[in-house]
Amino acid sequence: MAENGLILVTGAAGQVGAVGRTVTGLLLERGLPVRAMVRREDDRAAALRAAGAEVVVGDLLEPADVARVVSGCRRVYFGMSVSAGYLEATVTMGTVARDVGVDALINMSQMTVSQMSIQHTTPSPQQRQHWLSEQALAWSGLPVVTIRPTVFLDGFFLALVSPAVRDRSRIELPFGRGKTSPVAAADVARVVAAVLADPGPHLGQIYELTGPRSQDMDGVAREYAEALHREITYTDIPPEAWEQGLHKAGLPEHLIHHLVTMAALHRAGRYDRMADGVERVTGRPAMSVRDFVALHAEEFGGRRS
Ligand SMILES: NC(=O)c1ccc[n+]([C@@H]2O[C@H](COP(=O)([O-])OP(=O)(O)OC[C@H]3O[C@@H](n4cnc5c(N)ncnc54)[C@H](OP(=O)(O)O)[C@@H]3O)[C@@H](O)[C@H]2O)c1
Repeated sequence: MAENGLILVTGAAGQVGAVGRTVTGLLLERGLPVRAMVRREDDRAAALRAAGAEVVVGDLLEPADVARVVSGCRRVYFGMSVSAGYLEATVTMGTVARDVGVDALINMSQMTVSQMSIQHTTPSPQQRQHWLSEQALAWSGLPVVTIRPTVFLDGFFLALVSPAVRDRSRIELPFGRGKTSPVAAADVARVVAAVLADPGPHLGQIYELTGPRSQDMDGVAREYAEALHREITYTDIPPEAWEQGLHKAGLPEHLIHHLVTMAALHRAGRYDRMADGVERVTGRPAMSVRDFVALHAEEFGGRRS
């Protein structure tokens, strides 16, 4: 395996978890050469370039773009936004990676895939596509490392709840009494960067990633309260009203269908999971809800401690 081969990071601009952006920074800190793939030239692309990455613009749904960006790279992190073309993009990447002959392909997936089989899928089009993507990459014979995180702290527990936490000191989600163990995207990125830096020992592995604790939403709210130094409570809201809010916000149908399924799976106790992938790969435990909320205190109407 080439010691200093160029590493491709897709989805590097970052939107929700920004795993690709954090991975790019972590690899550059280690002195490794990174080609960061973005969808367009903007401030995020300029920041990646300023940090020392070779920035390339392309569309993961365009085979010729994918061939151009993979060419010359030995290792690849493949991840992109939750979107309708995910399976097509994965198969395109797999086809190109085989043609180029990469040494390692790190595939972002989801922990729900661990519970899926031919007989047991879920209604989420994204989860179905991740499951099929994993099948296709397994058939490909490529040297793959699979990353299966549970729900990110950065989506449901930050972007989707911060206005209600800020304005009403309430976490409003339709999660019922279900337990959950959300993981910080920053921890997911630490795992991906560690694997990319030295993929050999990880090839063929599937890493399941969760936070350090599985608890119901009252427990989660207590960690918010500790981090923000004020009372924060959980309100279990009706799923239908919550879904209407997502439509009103103009989110794409594919994403809404996925989020609605994630909420239903939470209510059914399917996010009550524990896995030690973060500590096993990086040697450091995963971030707690409390530490994550403290880091993002300003977005929740608190002061950064
Ligand atoms: N959120 C969760 O709770 C969760 C949990 C487990 C697993 N995951 C998985 O994590 C992945 C998402 O990771 P993330 O949150 O780090 O992603 P992200 O921050 O949403 O960033 C993804 C990037 O992909 C880029 N992109 C989208 N479509 C593209 C295309 N056709 N061509 C090139 N680039 C494209 C976007 O570019 P622009 O910004 O320019 O549009 C975006 O910057 C998904 O596989 C998801 O299933 C998420």
